[in-house]
Amino acid sequence: MAGSIGTAISRVDGRAKVTGRAKYAGEFAASGLVHGAVVASTITRGRIVGIDAAAALQVEGVIDVLTHANRPQMASRDDDYRDDVAPDGGAPFRPLYDDKVRFNRQPIALVLADDAETARFAATLVRVHYEQAGFTTDLHAELAHARTVDKPEKPRGDAAKALASAAVRHQADYVIPAEYHNPMEPFAATVIWNGDGKLTIYDKTQGVQNVQQYVCGVFGLAPENVRVMSPFVGGAFGSGLRPEFEVVLACLGALKLRRPVRVVLSREEMYGLCYRPATVERLALGASQAGALDAVTHEAIAMTSRHEDFSRNDTGWAELLYKSANARSVHKLAALDVATPGDMRAPGAASGVYALECAMDELAVALKLDPVELRLRCYSDRDQSSNQPYSSKQLRECYRQGAEAFGWAKRSAAPRAMRDGHELVGWGMASGVWEALQMPFAARIVLTANGHVEVSCAVTDIGTGTYTVMAQVAADMLGMPLSAVDVKLGDSSLPRSPVEGGSWTAASVAHAIVNAAGDIRKELLAAAQTMPSSPLEGLRPDDVLLADGAIASARNPTRSVAVADVMRHAGLERIEKERGSDFEEDDKHAHNTHSAVFAEVKVDEELGVIRVTRVVSAVAAGRIINTKTAASQIMGGVVWGIGMALHEEALVDHRFGRVMNANIAEYHVPVNADIHDIKVIFVEEPDSVINPLGIKGVGEIGIVGVASAIANAVYHATGQRVRDLPITLDKLARPAGESMSGSD
Ligand code: MOS
Repeated sequence: MAGSIGTAISRVDGRAKVTGRAKYAGEFAASGLVHGAVVASTITRGRIVGIDAAAALQVEGVIDVLTHANRPQMASRDDDYRDDVAPDGGAPFRPLYDDKVRFNRQPIALVLADDAETARFAATLVRVHYEQAGFTTDLHAELAHARTVDKPEKPRGDAAKALASAAVRHQADYVIPAEYHNPMEPFAATVIWNGDGKLTIYDKTQGVQNVQQYVCGVFGLAPENVRVMSPFVGGAFGSGLRPEFEVVLACLGALKLRRPVRVVLSREEMYGLCYRPATVERLALGASQAGALDAVTHEAIAMTSRHEDFSRNDTGWAELLYKSANARSVHKLAALDVATPGDMRAPGAASGVYALECAMDELAVALKLDPVELRLRCYSDRDQSSNQPYSSKQLRECYRQGAEAFGWAKRSAAPRAMRDGHELVGWGMASGVWEALQMPFAARIVLTANGHVEVSCAVTDIGTGTYTVMAQVAADMLGMPLSAVDVKLGDSSLPRSPVEGGSWTAASVAHAIVNAAGDIRKELLAAAQTMPSSPLEGLRPDDVLLADGAIASARNPTRSVAVADVMRHAGLERIEKERGSDFEEDDKHAHNTHSAVFAEVKVDEELGVIRVTRVVSAVAAGRIINTKTAASQIMGGVVWGIGMALHEEALVDHRFGRVMNANIAEYHVPVNADIHDIKVIFVEEPDSVINPLGIKGVGEIGIVGVASAIANAVYHATGQRVRDLPITLDKLARPAGESMSGSD
């Protein structure tokens, strides 16, 4: 029986999802279910003087209106309710905690009613009296007040001096707007009050145990009394790493009414929570005439809220990726009257590498070098920051295979040199880089004598394919068919898991499954060796493997016994093993995934309309467990990169501090008509160091570099360099000569 690892297996949960059998957080029912609707602040900063809910309470079917003044008890010390992903600095936000308004669309009341429509209607009748205070929401007005956070990486050499004396320099600011999460499933929670002081919570989240810990902290509950489940998630992409306010609101309602309560956010309310912060990314590169980098500096200025310091690694990539003796980076934060920003697919890298890879393109233009050639001349086999070798790095091969599949060799170097009818054609490329992280996970496997396998872990599947990957690894490690395996996940009562994020899940949970399967193999071997004239006599656990429903000598597969026979002989109904991933920190290597992204754009010369007609993404991410779900992750990242390059932008009216396009009609995301040919290549990247199966993870790497490849293609098509995203047609419509040129 051939294993399933490395093949294109369709999602094991696919049928449940497309038939509607898969239940999402807002779909769990309970008798007497109460529906909550949010009242959100219309001011940006100040104090709630009074909330008049009389009219709302008169609506038939309305049960209660919760506010900070009448809510159940909540913890007051922020250390009591910190979630796993909370920034170190500041105090996490809790809805309905007090009378302070910290950001526009902050939830300030919850209307509870017999049905969702009544709750929503009544919410419009709640009158709020505010005392308004001055505020600022514009990053660009606060750049001068930004303060340095995080310890800057130890600077390498003297970047300022090297830059000043470089033969060729490029420096420029790259500007990225705030982008909001628009997953298909909005945030939702259904909280079941069980009557015995226990809560069962269905929440849309990327971490059920994280939500459990947070809810217990906020409400002073014992973990054994709070069970959090999230069996299916309709896309989260980082927005569900932290517990969001819907779960607190639903818990408040359930604790107050002692009834089950559901809160589902509207699309507009999704613009009151998690988003990628707007940033200004300042890049400076200095190189020799021959294209050897000698200086790299990256300063990022990002927005955060006044109540928390949220920051991600925007600038570290510039320091580690390319060979340069001198490098320096700074990360600054400007505090604004906004909700705390959060994670969005490849947080830090999506923004920072956009700037780095556009800057590299501009440097290549200044050097009159092909952009791939420049990257090869600066290629580094070591992480430049830590000066460590990589556990594996096949980026060179990504460039080669990506360029070949794209047809890069046929590119004319000069901008505006390629045409297709009335459209200018541009070809651009970029590198992508992300971390190959691992976290402590645990997994439990139950093997029953009838040949059934159950593998479980508290981890969520946020759409990335975790159900399928877990099933594949368990099946292959136990030598059982995929159809024999059931996966249980997304339940806080299962073996431990951190949030699903950072692309660490496949590697980490697989590691735990490999370990648990190893324990099962050991027990089976011991049992097999008690059989009369056992063919496995004298063999040790490492000498045997499980394959085709049997336990066999690895060297001589004819020495084997059927697992069913072993279990029958030993009188074993079931074998249950739970193990942690137990990986050892490898501090001798750097661990990263890489990609090379090639993009073709066609630009209508008169109208400035840009189409991304082709993208090739060649990815090196260790062993790919499932080439189908992994390719889907990369494809999704490419689509998002197209959105980042051309469409997505939260438009804030800074006079009011409010996102004005808080809906998916006006907040543009790519639609089918925007997406053409996307080709994903997985480059072979054996890695015997990182973990037993050589897995690195592919969730995030797909988006990194995509926006820059497109921006670079737009420059190649038009000769105009647009550095502030998104590249909309009005920015291209500048008359020739007015285009910005930052290379000097
Ligand atoms: Mo990851 S930021 O959870 O896509």
